[in-house]
Amino acid sequence: MVGMAVSSFTSASLDPPLVAFFPGKASSSWARIRGAGRFCVNILAADQEDVCRKFASHEQDKFGGVDYTMSPLGLPIIEGAIASIECELENVVDAGDHDLALGRVMALTSDGERHPLVFFKSGYGHFRSNAPTSAAGTVSTRH
Ligand SMILES: Cc1cc2nc3c(=O)[nH]c(=O)nc-3n(C[C@H](O)[C@H](O)[C@H](O)COP(=O)(O)O)c2cc1C
Repeated sequence: MVGMAVSSFTSASLDPPLVAFFPGKASSSWARIRGAGRFCVNILAADQEDVCRKFASHEQDKFGGVDYTMSPLGLPIIEGAIASIECELENVVDAGDHDLALGRVMALTSDGERHPLVFFKSGYGHFRSNAPTSAAGTVSTRH
């Protein structure tokens, strides 16, 4: 099993459903992902900084100590991720010292209740919405 941390992930097309990311040409992980011809993008949750650090390392076993299950398509779904997007590699475009990798979405699972991990100015954090928040709860009385 192989994987790498990427922040360059984006959606690219709705019809057909395509997503994209920019892997560095020097990445050994990218060479193996490209060879496999399919991959799963796991959008990490705010409490998964340790998983991101592991996947950004040069460790041989990026999945060591990481909880995951294999999907019916045979791709690794990382437990606790807010979304898992399973793709077939559609196209690879030259982009200087990186490639532009386009994936065609085959399956998607998501947990809309969780917040994503954010990487900004060399540090990890979490997303805070400017929208007014409303808390869910119960109202009760003794009557
Ligand atoms: C927050 C974060 C975002 C990253 N985004 C990218 C990216 O978009 N593309 C990329 O090639 N590398 C990115 N990296 C670096 C790769 O994760 C790292 O170079 C790679 O996993 C090293 O493994 P490898 O050389 O064994 O493939 C990122 C690292 C971090 C910490």
